[in-house]
Amino acid sequence: MTAMFSDKGSQKWMQRHVNDPYVKSSKRMEYRSRAAFKLIDLDTKYKLIKPKMKILEIGSAPGSWTQVITKKLTNKESLLVAVDLLEMAEVKGAKFIRGDICNKEVQLNISNIIGADKFDLVNIVCLLKNRFVQMQRLNLLENR
Ligand SMILES: C[S@@+](CC[C@H](N)C(=O)[O-])C[C@H]1O[C@@H](n2cnc3c(N)ncnc32)[C@H](O)[C@@H]1O
Repeated sequence: MTAMFSDKGSQKWMQRHVNDPYVKSSKRMEYRSRAAFKLIDLDTKYKLIKPKMKILEIGSAPGSWTQVITKKLTNKESLLVAVDLLEMAEVKGAKFIRGDICNKEVQLNISNIIGADKFDLVNIVCLLKNRFVQMQRLNLLENR
């Protein structure tokens, strides 16, 4: 056992992680993390992702949601912009921007990509209300 997993709690966590059926499935299906299955479940239940959509994914790394979304965006008019503070390995079909979503330059970069269009779907879970309002002001989101 390495020093990294020397205490009992860490060893137990590692054991659970290695035996976790979702972790095993995500490896088999080549998803970057088991989080992929959360989005697959949500999409099965609420039919969120449609082939033609333009989607903004905030906080995308390591990219398992990006992998799930790009598989479903089959129409050539579709668009996926993925943003994260961390570097992320390329996912074919997604435009990745490394940076903080709260940063004006990052928002302008997104704005240049989407142009006169609007995003159909944005995962706003990590956005505080004031950031959401900031993005509405930049006209990146529909006022729904
Ligand atoms: C739980 S992870 C997302 C996992 C991803 N949905 C997946 O399936 O692989 C949350 C991510 O949000 C990113 N994040 C947090 N605050 C951010 C911000 N202000 N701007 C951009 N990314 C941010 C973190 O760097 C982290 O990679």
